[in-house]
Amino acid sequence: MTPVLDLVAGARPNFMKLAPVVRGLMAVGGVEFKIVHTGQHYDPAMNDVFFRELGIPAPDVHLDVGSGTHGAQTARIIERYEASLMERRPSGTVVFGDVNSTVACALAAVKLGIPVAHVEAGLRSFDRSMPEETNRILTDAMADLLLVSEPSGVTNLRREGAEEGRIRLVGNVMIDTLRSNIDAARARATVSRLNLDGRRYGFVTLHRPSNVDDQETLGRLLHLLHELARELPLVFAIHPRTVAAAHRMSLGHLVAEGQSHLICLGPQPYLDTLSLVLGASVVLTDSGGLQEETSVLGVPCLTLRENTERPVTVTLGTSRLVGNSPERITSAFADVLKGAWPRGETIPLWDGQAGSRIAAELLTWVRSSDAVTISK
Ligand code: UD1
Repeated sequence: MTPVLDLVAGARPNFMKLAPVVRGLMAVGGVEFKIVHTGQHYDPAMNDVFFRELGIPAPDVHLDVGSGTHGAQTARIIERYEASLMERRPSGTVVFGDVNSTVACALAAVKLGIPVAHVEAGLRSFDRSMPEETNRILTDAMADLLLVSEPSGVTNLRREGAEEGRIRLVGNVMIDTLRSNIDAARARATVSRLNLDGRRYGFVTLHRPSNVDDQETLGRLLHLLHELARELPLVFAIHPRTVAAAHRMSLGHLVAEGQSHLICLGPQPYLDTLSLVLGASVVLTDSGGLQEETSVLGVPCLTLRENTERPVTVTLGTSRLVGNSPERITSAFADVLKGAWPRGETIPLWDGQAGSRIAAELLTWVRSSDAVTISK
């Protein structure tokens, strides 16, 4: 019988990682897959548009969990995914990244004896206050196959005692998606639509609890963005949780649309985001994916965090950790404007082929006696 793998996606950053693995599995053959969407992200702008643009087949299973506190959301995913697994019993479950859907589905699967593979295993920020750090550690402890994007991941997994036989350094799938969409992104008229043709500009995203959940911090950052935007127009693609926080904290006027220097938009589709990053002189962000994308594109990236689980973006890439203090951000911003910034070097295995390497590993894994025995 052909083995069946569940591919689990739930939140926006999962979709860019799922697409190359789907393509890789289709090319390699010998294994069927079902796409399971948890529904952690559900707004069309955070969800449908990514499936469409990235050519991901529609989900076979939809768990419709929606938003909630971490406990409630995670619990809902576990309960609904377990019920779905009991009906279908796939040979293995593949989870991506570090969101609540990742850890919840891994837990539901292993408790039923269904082996788990983790794409983007081993990344560690060493900051336990980040919800994603807990998700990463727990998912890797449960996963049978650990598919790693950068060398630090291998070091971290070894230190935590993961057996060598579970670890594979396969490269970064996010960069597969970037490379295969770069021409389509260049063809987009996003920059002219925003009247930025021929002008220098910066691109901004912010959504981490450490930056947007505290009124004083968010207020300080939004005022700073307005100030910096007087030097260089900034396009701010705002995550729904940031907009909601701004309104809750009476800071809504600072993220209103229709301002000429700080151009505030809703969450952008993948191709528009890539098109904006490609043309940007600088990116200010707390997103993990953007640290990676800017590094490959050679665009200076001010990472508004004190730590990163993706250290290669700092050592070889173009990212600098600037935290959220106005002094450090302003000084780094000035460095970018005067051209004092590294251009970034080639990052090994971020070559557009990670999806095929992962598909080959998954095929061997699912056919191996271990995976099949456990899944009976
Ligand atoms: C989640 C991930 C984070 C990832 C981010 C990318 C976790 C713990 N966090 O954070 O790692 O970087 O996705 O976007 O899994 N909301 C909407 N529409 C949606 C989804 C969410 O309006 O489609 C709003 C709701 O108010 C919701 C809030 O955003 O309560 C937070 O959503 P949630 O999925 O819990 O976390 P994110 O902040 O999106």
